[in-house]
Amino acid sequence: MASSSEFVGIDLGTSTSALAHVREDGNPEIVPNSDGERLTPSVVFFDGHEGVKLVGSAARDGGDPERTVHHIKRFMDDPEYFVEIDGEQWTPTEISSLILAKLKKDCAEIIGEIENVVLTVPANFNELARKATVAAGQMAGLNVSRIVNEPTAAALYYAHSRAVSGRVMIYDLGGGTLDITILEIFGNNVDILLSEGARHLGGYDFDQILLELFAREYRNQNGKELVLNPYQKRRLLTLSEDTKKMLSKLNVVTETFGTDNEAITRLTLTREAFESAVRRLLTRTVMLVEQALDTLNFKPEDIDHVVLVGGSTRIPKVIELLEKQFGKKPVSCGNVDECVALGAALVAKRALDVSEVCNHSYGTLAIIENVATGVASVQNSVVIPKNTRIPCAMSQVYVTTENDERYIEVEITQGEDHDPRYVDVIGKIVFEVPPDRPAGSEVTVTYSYDESQRVRAEIFDAFSGVRHNVDIDYSGKGVLTADEIQRKSAYLKQIKIA
Ligand SMILES: Nc1ncnc2c1ncn2[C@@H]1O[C@H](COP(=O)(O)OP(=O)(O)OP(=O)(O)O)[C@@H](O)[C@H]1O
Ligand SMILES: [Mg+2]
Repeated sequence: MASSSEFVGIDLGTSTSALAHVREDGNPEIVPNSDGERLTPSVVFFDGHEGVKLVGSAARDGGDPERTVHHIKRFMDDPEYFVEIDGEQWTPTEISSLILAKLKKDCAEIIGEIENVVLTVPANFNELARKATVAAGQMAGLNVSRIVNEPTAAALYYAHSRAVSGRVMIYDLGGGTLDITILEIFGNNVDILLSEGARHLGGYDFDQILLELFAREYRNQNGKELVLNPYQKRRLLTLSEDTKKMLSKLNVVTETFGTDNEAITRLTLTREAFESAVRRLLTRTVMLVEQALDTLNFKPEDIDHVVLVGGSTRIPKVIELLEKQFGKKPVSCGNVDECVALGAALVAKRALDVSEVCNHSYGTLAIIENVATGVASVQNSVVIPKNTRIPCAMSQVYVTTENDERYIEVEITQGEDHDPRYVDVIGKIVFEVPPDRPAGSEVTVTYSYDESQRVRAEIFDAFSGVRHNVDIDYSGKGVLTADEIQRKSAYLKQIKIA
């Protein structure tokens, strides 16, 4: 029989991370960390005395803010971003690997050493951020058997934990992102119909708005600034987050501000003031839900269950807006901030059959003539549209523009926009073709997308009959090689993580 440590899922969250495994009875459960908590704050403190890297609550609640790293997941897709501490540069991947190493280490004490894991990512993470997440796992000494979209994992847990069937919308509002997934559940089969998301739309954005409210009020009362430097800002953001959580339960909250040398300032905030300050963001969430329904030609009543996931769905206004939009109460699948990890463990065990959709559009750059104006320009031409059920293969035929072209160049893109500036070029294929081809020769580009989210391209040149098959393995700026990961992993092994 397989040992319980074989089926492990980790939700590497913006604010908190969680690890779950599947018990021998087939049900997943959260494995607490060595601090006795089910959720580990995704915060790292770089101790300056013994070089210890503290991860979790101790890192979040104490220490020099200049040595503390929060919300690193927001930068997973930024190849330029790093944090510098004691003259050493740390990338988002490396910081994330410290968080994963802590989860791995703590869990070993309870369920034994783990090696294979399923990691989760927001549905709208791009290729770079997905690769960075896998690399973070590998650096932490884990074998990442699969990555799965967070709302898909939550959906699997929902389907597993109650005998429901029908259309479900997973509404995941976490610390950094909103993910909306619409799916159908029939017994053990889960069909994802659509996954949409928005970045920088989550609890952290609410915290920042709340801090602005406090700062304005403080200025009004005292005629001076509340936030004087970035380090103090970090502390005040934590305080704002606490206030926000209290406002999910209370209508009015008073916080105190000030140092020993000055009089304490008491600032009072109402739930109503908070709701009105974050209205713009909440309206965006409502519009994104509408957009998701429209894409599938669904009406709100076509959805049987609206399922809440993510800590920010504890905000009463969020629940109220969803209830208004759907005409029924949203439900939760247990603890809103644990179900992604629980679902990921089920994915590790392959407990349910899930069919996914692709989360981005894939296309090529082509010269396209505007029919109205006759002006030709380079545009992104989509071959596989976003939310196409996978596995899939789709083709587009292009024609060459000049006589005697000797090379055909195909640039593979990821993104929906027609404007090449707003899409990522994730691969490039150049191949030589025989001479004397007339302009207007047909080139067929076929993309296939398999279940492990691998994209392959086949280019067929009709004139020469030549076919080229290429695996698209994104290796743009910021993607680490296997060697680099290996080296970092060896380095991180020597670091004391607590
Ligand atoms: N009672 C509450 N009221 C309001 N917000 C809350 C409450 N409890 C938690 N949150 C917020 O939920 C967020 C964390 O949720 P969660 O742990 O689901 O996010 P995450 O998984 O870390 O983020 P993401 O999924 O975006 O990567 C934080 O912003 C936190 O402040
Ligand atoms: Mg989450």
